[in-house]
Amino acid sequence: MQLIDGKALATKMKTKIKEEVDAMKSSGMKVPHLAAVLVGDNPGSQSYVRNKVRYCDDVGFESTLIKKDDSITEGELLAIVQDLNDDPSVDGFIIQLPLPDHIDAEKVNLAIDPKKDVDGFHPMNFGRMTLGLPAYLPATPQGILVMLEEYGIETSGKKCVVVGRSNIVGMPMSILMAQKRKTGNCTVTIVHSRTKDTVSEIRAADIVIAAIGRANYITADMIKEGAVVIDVGINRVDDDSRKRGYRLVGDVDFLGVSEKASYMTPVPGGVGPMTVTSLIMNTIIAAKGQIYN
Ligand code: GUN
Repeated sequence: MQLIDGKALATKMKTKIKEEVDAMKSSGMKVPHLAAVLVGDNPGSQSYVRNKVRYCDDVGFESTLIKKDDSITEGELLAIVQDLNDDPSVDGFIIQLPLPDHIDAEKVNLAIDPKKDVDGFHPMNFGRMTLGLPAYLPATPQGILVMLEEYGIETSGKKCVVVGRSNIVGMPMSILMAQKRKTGNCTVTIVHSRTKDTVSEIRAADIVIAAIGRANYITADMIKEGAVVIDVGINRVDDDSRKRGYRLVGDVDFLGVSEKASYMTPVPGGVGPMTVTSLIMNTIIAAKGQIYN
């Protein structure tokens, strides 16, 4: 099994991104500016947003972090979105998900100016992506495409099974893998909670992309010999031997599956670092006006 080292690839890309930001600066352009809105104290969200802000600092981006208490009203959050839409210094912004239950996440998503929607979640970007038009691609699926391409993994004509149908990962991933594109041209199946025989579907796959958020759900007996296995899950499991009391594991039982897979991503150090890289690349595209001018 060959490990797909997302961390190493992300580090390599970070150097290139920093060079690009330096070049933008030298040519008199303003540096890209990413803003992030974090509501509440979900530990996962806090850690993701921290990584994004740190990445901005590392590559010379301007960044703004807007932190709000869980008690924020929908109206107050919509007003923040409007301010970010109107602020010419901000090239792109994200509203970290999940949002508290009393806020309609769809309404907030619809309020984002598609030009600044570097998450690619607004229907304008999602629709453009689906039609194969220039769009901000959602960060996690985009990062996975880059990894598959970098490792020279053939996808054309392969059977790809995407486990999970979220709007953030499973659904856009399945669309991209089916499209006529360099890394694509797969025959795609999405499996989800109502699938009749999930195991048989996964067992038939040449490429498995697991994005369900269930620790070690995919086990070796579900995997075809030689399959490529991409693990999007980041799950906390109790571990008293660790100082922080938990460790991170993916949706895939790494040790067992590594006996059968040809390529696979580790957790941590696989998909996660590439997700941040993609968001940053989308922000450069936004700053340069390459999609909407
Ligand atoms: N929560 C989990 N993944 C993401 C992401 O890619 N973007 C945002 N905004 N929230 C998330």
